[in-house]
Amino acid sequence: MKNVSGKTAAITGGASGIGFGMAQVFAEAGMNLVLLDIEETALTAAAQELRGKGAKVETVQADVADRDSMAQAAAECTRAFGAVHLLCNNAGVNAMGPFEDMSYKDWDWVMSVNLNGVVNGVKCFLPELKRHGADAHIVNTASVGGLLGMPNLTIYNASKFAVVGFSEALRADLLESGVGVSVLCPGVVRSNLGTSSRNRPDKLKDDPNEGTVADAASESIAAGTDPIDLGRHVLQSIQDNEFFICTHPEFQEVLRKRADAIDRAFRGEADPAALDSVNGMTRAF
Ligand SMILES: NC(=O)c1ccc[n+]([C@@H]2O[C@H](COP(=O)([O-])OP(=O)(O)OC[C@H]3O[C@@H](n4cnc5c(N)ncnc54)[C@H](O)[C@@H]3O)[C@@H](O)[C@H]2O)c1
Repeated sequence: MKNVSGKTAAITGGASGIGFGMAQVFAEAGMNLVLLDIEETALTAAAQELRGKGAKVETVQADVADRDSMAQAAAECTRAFGAVHLLCNNAGVNAMGPFEDMSYKDWDWVMSVNLNGVVNGVKCFLPELKRHGADAHIVNTASVGGLLGMPNLTIYNASKFAVVGFSEALRADLLESGVGVSVLCPGVVRSNLGTSSRNRPDKLKDDPNEGTVADAASESIAAGTDPIDLGRHVLQSIQDNEFFICTHPEFQEVLRKRADAIDRAFRGEADPAALDSVNGMTRAF
């Protein structure tokens, strides 16, 4: 997808953080925007800010974890400007802590948004995207945590590794159709991810420590990359049809060491300390 001007982007989790950063950059590039989010107030505020800068924006309130909600949302997004060319499956949440302290409800919530949300987005929007062939693209937001295991992030890591694997296979499936697929694997970005539990459904709430853990993460997230800079990187990568969108070079060395640990295993020269030292180095939040 080289020429984005006049095309339409639908962005899940578009009312905040990385999604809103991408929206601002896509608008500057002349795209129509449909912001899809579970938070109605944030959606209204985000759309107002973008319209103030002259952008063409519509909003759709939906829950990416809910298949019916997403099917309806895909139809609404397509109706908004008559087409969707770019789908950013970006909505996501985080619950941190040692695995032994995590509950099945933590698992169900994080996986339902981070993994099922991406699957639902692709399932519901794919027929519309395929209509546009090489003028269409999908960006799934994973994380550097989709390439590297980190302490206190088992569930988040599992969801993001799954998004990377799903996206890689999807790109192969869609090669003939012309629809491009990228996976976004950022390090820390300034956003509201540290207060993810604000969108946690009542039926999946049960962890009394959840608030404390999320608040601790907020401090490092506040010092992260500007989401607009991230959005610029994403737009360029879409136009270049890159698969991996890796925005934080500080993780390059640990990823090389991880690849080396796999390489050694193939050579029968496994060194347990190699991977353990890598994991010790990587505390993203
Ligand atoms: N901020 C970081 O450091 C960082 C790093 C790597 C990856 N990510 C990923 O980036 C993506 C965006 O997160 P962010 O950091 O901008 O956080 P954010 O909280 O600022 O934005 C996430 C958005 O998703 C929405 N959302 C949450 N649950 C939803 C649901 N069920 N249905 C629809 N919308 C829902 C929220 O309302 C919010 O607007 C996530 O997938 C996250 O895992 C973030």
